[in-house]
Amino acid sequence: MINIKKLIAQMTLEEKAGMCSGADFWHLKGIERLGIPSLMVSDGPHGLRKQDMRADNLGINESIKAVCFPAACNTAGSFDRQLLKEMGQVIAKECLAEDVSVILGPGMNIKRSPLCGRNFEYFSEDPYLTGELAAAFVQGAQAEGVGTSPKHFAVNNQENYRMSVSAELDQATLREIYLSAFEKVIKKAQPKTIMASYNRVNGTYASENHQLLTDILRREWDFQGYVMSDWGAVDRRVEALEAGLDLEMPSSNGFNDATIIEAVQTGRLDEKILDQTVERILRVVFDYVDKRRAVVWDKEADHDKARQIAEESAVLLKNDGVLPLSKGQKVAFIGAFAQTPRYQGGGSSHINAFKVSSALEAVKAYQEVSFALGYDLEEKANQAELIAEAVALAKANDAAVIFAGLPENFESEGYDRQHIQLPANQNALVQAVAAVQKNTVVVLHNGSAVTLPWEADVAAILEMYLAGQAVGEASVNLLYGKTNPSGRLAETFPYQLEDNPSYLNFPGDGDVVNYKEGIYVGYRYYDKKRMAVQYPFGYGLSYTSFAYSDLQVSQTELLDTDKVTVSLKVTNTGSVAGKEVIQLYVAKLFDNDRRPVRELKGFEKVYLEPNESKDIQFILDKGSFSEFNSLLNDWYVASGDYAIQICHNSRDLALSQTVTIKSTQELPFIVHRNTTLGDLLEHPKTHDWSIELRARVDSFFHPEGQAEDDAVSDDMADNFLKNMPLRGVLSFIGMTSEELDEKLASINQ
Ligand code: BGC
Repeated sequence: MINIKKLIAQMTLEEKAGMCSGADFWHLKGIERLGIPSLMVSDGPHGLRKQDMRADNLGINESIKAVCFPAACNTAGSFDRQLLKEMGQVIAKECLAEDVSVILGPGMNIKRSPLCGRNFEYFSEDPYLTGELAAAFVQGAQAEGVGTSPKHFAVNNQENYRMSVSAELDQATLREIYLSAFEKVIKKAQPKTIMASYNRVNGTYASENHQLLTDILRREWDFQGYVMSDWGAVDRRVEALEAGLDLEMPSSNGFNDATIIEAVQTGRLDEKILDQTVERILRVVFDYVDKRRAVVWDKEADHDKARQIAEESAVLLKNDGVLPLSKGQKVAFIGAFAQTPRYQGGGSSHINAFKVSSALEAVKAYQEVSFALGYDLEEKANQAELIAEAVALAKANDAAVIFAGLPENFESEGYDRQHIQLPANQNALVQAVAAVQKNTVVVLHNGSAVTLPWEADVAAILEMYLAGQAVGEASVNLLYGKTNPSGRLAETFPYQLEDNPSYLNFPGDGDVVNYKEGIYVGYRYYDKKRMAVQYPFGYGLSYTSFAYSDLQVSQTELLDTDKVTVSLKVTNTGSVAGKEVIQLYVAKLFDNDRRPVRELKGFEKVYLEPNESKDIQFILDKGSFSEFNSLLNDWYVASGDYAIQICHNSRDLALSQTVTIKSTQELPFIVHRNTTLGDLLEHPKTHDWSIELRARVDSFFHPEGQAEDDAVSDDMADNFLKNMPLRGVLSFIGMTSEELDEKLASINQ
């Protein structure tokens, strides 16, 4: 590898400043005289959107023909690290074939509200699942020598006012929900770059946020790559540079190069910061150059990979036994999406698919089916006629499969959804068909949760999400049982939008958005509230059945620094082969009112032939039990009992084992004038003093030690005093204000 420090020493100030922003929309600047190439980056995340002509970041202009893989809303359902790794590998090879140094993804923001227009590009409402899958994708891609750019760092959970809104949240929520997936991806997979988001976080632009970009990302997590801005996210260039933002994208047309030069010349910016930034960028540039090699892009092979991923990720939500379909049945396919499927979302991730398979085409490999359009996406045609035609067809067949979903303009990058319903004409169609055909199956194409008002009336529901260009083949392979469905929901399906925890605080007032629900995002909220939901997080069916047994843990008493091994046996008890997702959750069994019922801390996917059993192992560590403690500004495991729970989904507990953990960390306990007698009593440091104070209060009110009077029982007095702050009992305990301050100083020393 080239000596980068030496190279930087040869660069002029102008050249160094120039490295800090793009040459154009997609390229970094190169310096010919020094042999620094001008490398390209491209979207991402679920395929290659390489624009070689007119450039834009909204998916307006065409990119080269490529393979559209399933979007993250679909792939998250796989609960399969290996699959995501392979997807990363395949896309990275496409990048090599096209000489693209960094693929701009994965998208890994948390699905705070189902309304976020870009949820289709994100994995889950759960940070553990998001982090694991994103890390696998990054590992796969980077093993091929191509960089990745996990995005959008951070707290970018809506499209309305996405470039300006300030996401306001407390530190525990920030760390546990919105940063922990990023923490995982950095620590596990060390992505070559990371993309800073447009929005502000607690008032400061993410791209100028020193706490995020330097204190946390680099100092705490040891991120080694370079931070690039989202396209056009940089506000004040020098502040951004100082905060830790290395590369501004796209080009600033020279303006910010000049700003940086001037800042160095006037002494406002330390040139060392600039040198460090250039070094970070060049390290990634030359890492790619060193590993770059010629690769032949076999688009057909990648199409087939896209199909496999879609099949492994789709979620079977309901099945009264109608699925899998058999070739002997007379089947009607209904719906515009059977013919022209919706398979990807709009915006910067939009791939120019080299081919798209429709279910209507793909089903020919199985049998002839009849077809009715059922609805018109534009909602212009005569809907009653379309429904009548579909109903007649459904009646004349043994089963009806309706391909429904959200039209493209219902969800996209750049704006949020208005509601979470399917178009009214589609709901009416499903209802009408289900009324005449008991074997009605609905196949869904959508980027995020929708309401299903006809759920009880149909026989089966297959959630494909936005499944990429091979969606047609994937759907029919699942419908006919060539592949056994094994996806699980990575988000809760609520009964109505109003149930969502962010409902009252989304998307904010245009200036700020308050994350008042705190850590109670997704199932953490629904489960805590014991709220009925349409389908819980982690839910999904199979054409076979599985049984769990023999749950064991390596030890039941441990320190927070120990690891514990959890094992169990999983058996395929049905009659066809299939894959099962085993989900491990952790529940805190004490002081639980401020914690979720349970939180996902492990998952494994396993393939089993009928009657086959396999042993599954999980290794849990401190991260599996900890919560973020703002006093420590660190992760902390409180001493006590925790349940390790093996579940079918967040609502369905199968096996449980309790472990007792002892903390090795001591929480700081600062006593102040408003500390209550109750809190003093709880803490070993002040327990005895609290008892002494209590006695003094007692003797103030009962100088002769009278017995309890009628009006106030001992219990009442205890409870009353528990909530009294020190400053409120001064006169009863015979202490002056100054004496109290002295006492506090000595305790807090
Ligand atoms: C998006 C990014 C994308 C970039 C480049 C932005 O508008 O937010 O996700 O990578 O454009 O297209």
